[in-house]
Amino acid sequence: MTERNGSVISFDLIYQFSKEDIEKRIGEVRTTIMQQMRENMDNYVWKNIKSLEELESTRMSAMRKFLSDYEKGKAERRYVFHELPDKLPYGADYFDIGLSSHFLLMYTSLGYNFHIASMTEMLRVCKEIRIFPIVDLDANKTDLIKNVIDYFQRDYNVEIVKTEYEFQKGDNKLLIIRNRDVI
Ligand SMILES: C[S@@+](CC[C@H](N)C(=O)[O-])C[C@H]1O[C@@H](n2cnc3c(N)ncnc32)[C@H](O)[C@@H]1O
Repeated sequence: MTERNGSVISFDLIYQFSKEDIEKRIGEVRTTIMQQMRENMDNYVWKNIKSLEELESTRMSAMRKFLSDYEKGKAERRYVFHELPDKLPYGADYFDIGLSSHFLLMYTSLGYNFHIASMTEMLRVCKEIRIFPIVDLDANKTDLIKNVIDYFQRDYNVEIVKTEYEFQKGDNKLLIIRNRDVI
């Protein structure tokens, strides 16, 4: 996004670590993750990415690209160490869109209150939030996810949109939540 001259700020716990720490960790888990992918190949759609080898090289090149921008991005406050649901250092409606990918709704063990508080804080600083996907780590719909969506439906515009992107089977839906007073 930055390369395309867009304006984007990312928040994650991982930004507390140095480039070297992250690089080392990627090296440590690479084989284990690829082994897990090999064992669970049937749970994925091999349409855009056609093989395990292509997946590994695509992910490694994305990580290299991220790491090459990491220190500059940290200095420019584009990568910000932050733990949700703590208050974000921005005022109301600062961002047009807030995106959470493969985190909120997915880690159901964090519990209902965590997800409600985190998404409420995102909705404070963003005019609209988008959560993808809307299944848990095993690609299942859960009561927790349903309850969180029901909660926001009371006061916000909530929309579920089908995505063209589907890698893990069944994870092809995006949740959009907007403040009612934003057109
Ligand atoms: C499965 S990864 C997804 C990373 C990235 N969004 C993506 O789609 O590739 C989940 C991320 O959530 C971050 N995370 C976990 N707990 C968090 C919290 N309380 N606040 C902010 N980030 C958190 C982790 O550090 C990790 O990078």
